[in-house]
Amino acid sequence: EAQVFRQLALAGKTALVTAGPTYEPIDPVRFIGNHSSGKMGFALANALYLQGAAVQLVSGPTALQPAYEGIELIRVQTAQQMYEACISAFPAAAIAVMSAAVADYRPVEAAPEKIKKTGSGMELQLVKTPDILQSLGSLKQPHQFVAGFALETTNETEHAMQKLRNKNADMIVLNSLRNKEAGFGVDTNAITIFDKDGGTTTHGVMPKDAVAAVIVEHIIQKLYAPKV
Ligand code: CTP
Ligand code: CA
Repeated sequence: EAQVFRQLALAGKTALVTAGPTYEPIDPVRFIGNHSSGKMGFALANALYLQGAAVQLVSGPTALQPAYEGIELIRVQTAQQMYEACISAFPAAAIAVMSAAVADYRPVEAAPEKIKKTGSGMELQLVKTPDILQSLGSLKQPHQFVAGFALETTNETEHAMQKLRNKNADMIVLNSLRNKEAGFGVDTNAITIFDKDGGTTTHGVMPKDAVAAVIVEHIIQKLYAPKV
């Protein structure tokens, strides 16, 4: 009896994924963070793994666990730690998908002791964090595919296309905020994919697992598309 074996599309390839928020310490008990749940990033890691990739998932603080033991989870807190983990993992990666909601600014320094309440107001001095997607975009070799996300409230298309260019990404996934089924904390998402070659693809509201599968299918198509 003849048996036919087909390889999974991403067998032998490594994928690097970022997920979740970052926490930027203000003092030993406080931080600057955001409401990212990490669901999209974990769903992407699962979808890449199901296509045969070796997955390294770099996640900020979340309560989530990867669905498969084979997914390598690297937990971090700050943008700087996420940056360092990504810089060291990227050379081995064929695919990088940056879905973390990285804090854009962090306190210049974390106070060593809890800050006491004093006057009627206070100022906190902030400094920019490293842009991980942009860094990987500038380090990218021809065999590597780098994808990012964008969440915009104004001029969505223009801003998403700017991010594609400025960060030297191969694709940007725009999260639509037009309906409340999309974005932070919910289990569904509606996306538009912007490709480096100028293509745009819009998908309606879907569960995040289905969105992740669609994104991974898209990446596979682009990865194996004949170069022109
Ligand atoms: N990103 C990153 N490192 C940062 C900031 C953002 O890797 N320090 C990535 C995100 O993971 C996402 C993409 O860049 O894939 C776009 O993030 P977004 O916050 O929408 O864009 P910014 O470049 O930070 O610009 P702004 O927040 O002003 O829109
Ligand atoms: Ca940002």
